[in-house]
Amino acid sequence: MNIQKVLALNAILLTAVGGHPVAHNDGKAKGHKLLLISFDGFRWDYDQDVETPNLDNLAKEGVKAKYITPPFVTMTSPSHFTTITGRWIEDHGVIHNMMFNTDTLRKYSYKETQNKTEWWDNGVLPLWITAQNQGKKAASFHYPGGGGNFSGQPVSRSLVEAFGHPDSNETEWRENIDIVMNWFTKEDFDFVTLYYGEPDNTGHKFGPETKERKEIVRQIDRTVGYLLEVIEKHHLKDILNVIITSDHGMTTVKKSPEVEEILLANYIKFADLKFDIIDYGGFGMILPKPEKEEEVYQALKNAHPHLKVFRKEEFPEHFHYAKHGRVLPILLYGDLGYSVNGGVTVCTCACAKSSENGIAHNVGLVSYLGSAKLELELLGTDQHAYICIIPVEQ
Ligand SMILES: *[C@@H]1O[C@H](CO)[C@@H](O)[C@H](O)[C@H]1NC(C)=O
Ligand SMILES: *[C@@H]1O[C@H](CO)[C@@H](O)[C@H](O)[C@H]1NC(C)=O
Ligand SMILES: *[C@@H]1O[C@H](CO)[C@@H](O)[C@H](O)[C@H]1NC(C)=O
Repeated sequence: MNIQKVLALNAILLTAVGGHPVAHNDGKAKGHKLLLISFDGFRWDYDQDVETPNLDNLAKEGVKAKYITPPFVTMTSPSHFTTITGRWIEDHGVIHNMMFNTDTLRKYSYKETQNKTEWWDNGVLPLWITAQNQGKKAASFHYPGGGGNFSGQPVSRSLVEAFGHPDSNETEWRENIDIVMNWFTKEDFDFVTLYYGEPDNTGHKFGPETKERKEIVRQIDRTVGYLLEVIEKHHLKDILNVIITSDHGMTTVKKSPEVEEILLANYIKFADLKFDIIDYGGFGMILPKPEKEEEVYQALKNAHPHLKVFRKEEFPEHFHYAKHGRVLPILLYGDLGYSVNGGVTVCTCACAKSSENGIAHNVGLVSYLGSAKLELELLGTDQHAYICIIPVEQ
């Protein structure tokens, strides 16, 4: 095993499934190929309470980081785009899962943004394009951002996740791996990113500390086993490096009456706002009407012991988040386990957390705003009944 490169990521594994640069048919010496796989919301310790023989094996033969600290804010698109660009969120500009326009008040869901170049192309080149500019062939399979053009250049092969795409169909997972293997062998792609929406979806739906989450981790492990099998079958073992990573973790949301939940309507009038992005997990942003900005800020500043409120200019620099022009004037986040709710408690089972100390920048994520289209489900757990908003696309 000859490890080419180590990236430290969330619950990550890097395995070099091989060693030496090989001469291809055309006689041109080329380097190794790279497959980057992301399992959304795979918390750093999800492989520690479930048997994961294939992941364990990979870790033994390759390299494994204990955890990674994701960027703030820990949402799918912003965090994945940091992985693929190597830049902070305030530098690459993909500041949320939703694209929005504060003039039209329009919000675009995660899925809707995937084909929107204007959301992704902010002057920072993702690795696909850098590789292509070096004469390599790059492809994206469902990876966030792969559907955009960058400085006019598309990723040469890109599949964008369809609306209504099932997150957890194991057969489809394997088919996707087969497709990617053919890209490497039949079409000589050098770099492919492959994205799966699990275990994030299951984590949101049932919570991270549930048997459902454990089961989806077992499914991921079987899929990794399948991957290793087909790498051998396609004779890619000596030329393909594989990185398995994730974008953020998850934690259980605390509920009333155990705690006092954060409900902004208790402190401000929504009529004083021009635009907001809240009810989206542990993080929110608001744009007050100009004459109300100071009043809204003061009303929120010390409103709730577990709600952190900042003006954009005073947002902690170490988050490397707030400098981007798209960020709204007032930012809010809840302490770990708290959602930032607007008018009603939109309870979500889980929100994001990643490294072990649970510091604030691991808070974030959760479900989607979509008012009329939200699906509500009542889920029983050991102690409480939770009402959960299942992420749905608008
Ligand atoms: C990318 O650019 C091509 C033309 O080069 C265009 O046909 C395509 O629609 C663009 N795609 C996106 C998502 O903007
Ligand atoms: C993205 O664009 C492709 C090609 O035009 C289209 O088939 C697909 O439906 C679009 N997907 C989304 C999520 O908008
Ligand atoms: C899962 O995916 C396979 C292959 O794409 C498909 O044939 C099957 O119908 C899917 N199963 C479900 C339950 O959607």
